[in-house]
Amino acid sequence: MTFQDEILRRRTFAIISHPDAGKTTLTEKLLLYGGAIHVAGAVKSNKIRKTATSDWMEIEKQRGISVATSVMGFDYAGYHINILDTPGHQDFAEDTFRTLTAVDSVIIVIDSAKGVETQTRRLMEVCRMRKTPVMVFMNKMDREGKDPFDLLDDVEAELGIKVTPVTWANGQGLKFESVFALSNRPKDLSNKLHADMELIDGVYPEFDREAYLKGDLAPVFYGSAYKTIGVQELLDFFIANAPSPRSVEAMERKVDPMEEAFTGFCFKIHANMDPNHRSCIAFFKICSGKFLRNTYYKHVRENREMRFSAPTCFMAQKKETVDEAFAGDIVGLPDTGNFKIGDTLTSGENLHFKGLPSFSPEMFKYIENADPMKQKQLDKGVRQLMDEGVAQLFISQLNGRKIIGTVGQLQFEVIQYRLEHEYNAKCRWEPMQMYKACWIESDDEAELKTFKARKAQYMAFDKEGRDVFMADSAYILNMAQQDYKNIKFHFTSEF
Ligand code: G4P
Repeated sequence: MTFQDEILRRRTFAIISHPDAGKTTLTEKLLLYGGAIHVAGAVKSNKIRKTATSDWMEIEKQRGISVATSVMGFDYAGYHINILDTPGHQDFAEDTFRTLTAVDSVIIVIDSAKGVETQTRRLMEVCRMRKTPVMVFMNKMDREGKDPFDLLDDVEAELGIKVTPVTWANGQGLKFESVFALSNRPKDLSNKLHADMELIDGVYPEFDREAYLKGDLAPVFYGSAYKTIGVQELLDFFIANAPSPRSVEAMERKVDPMEEAFTGFCFKIHANMDPNHRSCIAFFKICSGKFLRNTYYKHVRENREMRFSAPTCFMAQKKETVDEAFAGDIVGLPDTGNFKIGDTLTSGENLHFKGLPSFSPEMFKYIENADPMKQKQLDKGVRQLMDEGVAQLFISQLNGRKIIGTVGQLQFEVIQYRLEHEYNAKCRWEPMQMYKACWIESDDEAELKTFKARKAQYMAFDKEGRDVFMADSAYILNMAQQDYKNIKFHFTSEF
């Protein structure tokens, strides 16, 4: 197979959903089709095994949620498919946001009894920002749920994307037995289905692949992941229409996946499983070319060459050492603190990939040292955990106090636990009244200066030393936006 064919046959995507909509069940059924697993239940039992072998993950075990984001690769009908798993728990939404930067498309799973739920709405915002092509799977059609047309309306209204059904459900709830492709309808339709078809033909456009690839149109599928109905139709349509690796914007230029020179960026750092050896796995998305084991690549931020003797790929749930991987693939590089989220590796070129923004956190606390003898350990731990992307650190410009911002309460517990077990440091949290952190910029130097002087008690630096306005209420933020028309307030770090 040629180098180009290898890349063209890759499909790298994530399944996203609100917890309990059926993401795990659907993932598992896709893996079954790919022959990557042989029994249902394997994906879930893997989650449990993983938690049992890692100490700090006791937290997630206790709470019965999966903190880890991993990759499952398998071959199907000549295609190489990489599914990036995303944590369902909303406290780890930032992890999911970053995973979405490494995929070329997304499948959204919706519980047909519930319709669009909050978590899905937030994730869709990230897809829209990045123009990621999405397909929608209306799951649990074997249960009494919302009317299939209402579900389509719901997706259009709530997720802000045009939809067109590709399959249709033959019945719903107890009567649900199959789906059929709208392009290949059964001859004898019931009166009800006949009426459905008239409505569909009158209202919904035909599937337009260009519109889908631009992120403007979402094809919709109905089914039951649990009963394995409608899954094959989704998979076959997916491999035929979902994009192969797309080009990626770097600060310097656009990088095409077919370029021979290797480039990639780190979108995820998986915490060490063993507290005695502080080793992590840095997950790199390959943006172009071919990655080879034991070959020197340039770590752009540190301006030095590195090579990797044990890069891993992920086939089904097994981690395997690989000799080569192609654009679209994810490689896991064992790491002892060399990498940060957003780092670039190349065959020599100085490139910096864009599109790995930090999102404005939603919860804030002061972090204080609870053991004066361990200040160094604490500083190091906090720095490394922030590099891993566990949370964001801000420093008050007024008094130098350290503020940790997260998207959920659970992350504070993870940080405290890991500081203690991995860095031998103790921290204490102090509450703070805070609404949002936003990055500010302006062409009007004078206005920016006035703003910063007036709002001195609200100003902080982010990890790159950029100015961040910490608004303690929606009111304060609104007033600031009104009073300072020449200042732009950004809610992600990349603008
Ligand atoms: P998640 O990863 O999105 O959180 O959801 P998951 O697949 O774990 O599914 C959540 C629950 O919904 C599971 O039930 C699962 O069996 C059920 N489910 C998934 N797809 C379907 C479907 O198409 N129809 C029906 N009726 N149920 C479905 P559970 O009771 O939490 O777990 P389990 O004991 O069944 O494993």
